[in-house]
Amino acid sequence: MLLRDFIEDSLYNPHYGYFSKQVVIFSPGEPFDFPSLPSEHAFFQSLRHRYTAFEDVLDYQEPNDLRQLWHTPTELFSPYYGEAIARYLVEDYKYSSYPYHDLNIYEMGAGNGTMMLNILDYIRDCHPEVYERTRYKIIEITTQLADLQQQGLGHSAYARGHADKVEIVNKSVFDWDQYVSSPCYFLALEVFDNFAHDALKYDWQTGTPYQSHVVIDPRGEMFEYYSRTLDPLAAQFLERRHAACKSYPHPLSGSRFMNSMQSLLPFRDSLTMPEYIPTRLMQFFYMLYQKFPNHKLISSDFHKLADGVEGLNAPVVQTRYKRQMIPVSTPLVHQGYFDILFPTDFEVIEPMYTAITGRFARTYSHEVFMSGRADIEETQTRNGENPLLSWYKNASVMITV
Ligand SMILES: C[S@@+](CC[C@H](N)C(=O)[O-])C[C@H]1O[C@@H](n2cnc3c(N)ncnc32)[C@H](O)[C@@H]1O
Repeated sequence: MLLRDFIEDSLYNPHYGYFSKQVVIFSPGEPFDFPSLPSEHAFFQSLRHRYTAFEDVLDYQEPNDLRQLWHTPTELFSPYYGEAIARYLVEDYKYSSYPYHDLNIYEMGAGNGTMMLNILDYIRDCHPEVYERTRYKIIEITTQLADLQQQGLGHSAYARGHADKVEIVNKSVFDWDQYVSSPCYFLALEVFDNFAHDALKYDWQTGTPYQSHVVIDPRGEMFEYYSRTLDPLAAQFLERRHAACKSYPHPLSGSRFMNSMQSLLPFRDSLTMPEYIPTRLMQFFYMLYQKFPNHKLISSDFHKLADGVEGLNAPVVQTRYKRQMIPVSTPLVHQGYFDILFPTDFEVIEPMYTAITGRFARTYSHEVFMSGRADIEETQTRNGENPLLSWYKNASVMITV
């Protein structure tokens, strides 16, 4: 199978995939009271305690050394992170479509459903006239998380009030088949990183690309081989990227002469190191173009990740065992036990998004986007540090403008 299909199966197979099996997204419970904390360090300590307590409770209910527990900014900084996104949504909606259209929000990959609750709470409390017009749809591939999102809506009378505004659709965004002609906002927060990629290697001398395939033998051993035939999606990605981007990082960048020399080195592979290409993300942009022609995208993801496997734009492949994160050096790992997450090269992705959808986008650092929209007083510690702004230095926010 293609590496892309192998990754997708490892992450999302409904029976043994990583997301369907062991995933638990940390929730801190009560929001952190930042102004009462002396410093960012104190916040970190308090978070560590809550993390341990959270897992102690889970272990008490059901011990599990393989529990895959992780966190996202939506959870750590709830409700402030969600409110910052909500502020942006309402401002843009009031400017561009109110009162002619409803505020239609689609969120793909909503995790615990916290963003949805934080956004709806904010709109209800601060903009009741907009709340009247708000509809929220979640598109969620993982059944267990879709169930959790539904439960969240029944959690309190306050949350229950949103129930008639929300619909949770338990399917992959790639299976979405409804045409949505009205203006809408499409949220994608930490979802691109788990979209499957293909891997290509290039011939040092001719530049010919070869595409990665995975073979699993009857004993379950995995092998990777590179085929000279590109599948249509990988070929389309290369064409699209070439047309949309003036320049982009490439394993063959450097002089032709040096590349030819590389191939002559003794014991040197005739192919370059792998480059991981976001074929599924490109497909997602086509889906937006075809099914949501009037969307505005709001996405956030990592532009950089530490401890990746070898290669350009390479993923981090890791598992959590006995509360320790363990990175490994290949994506060819036992399906379902490992998270496989990729950095997003926004310099490439932004022009590709525009070329495919015909809509312009802009990318901000997490800090810049948040500093214009978050409640700075509520998220600042006593010594003036602000973890909402200073954490997630490796994340960017790309929005349609
Ligand atoms: C890393 S979590 C992020 C959760 C949430 N957005 C947050 O920031 O807390 C990724 C989420 O995307 C979902 N997801 C991944 N691929 C998807 C797809 N193709 N269609 C819909 N949801 C998807 C996962 O099930 C999960 O809920």
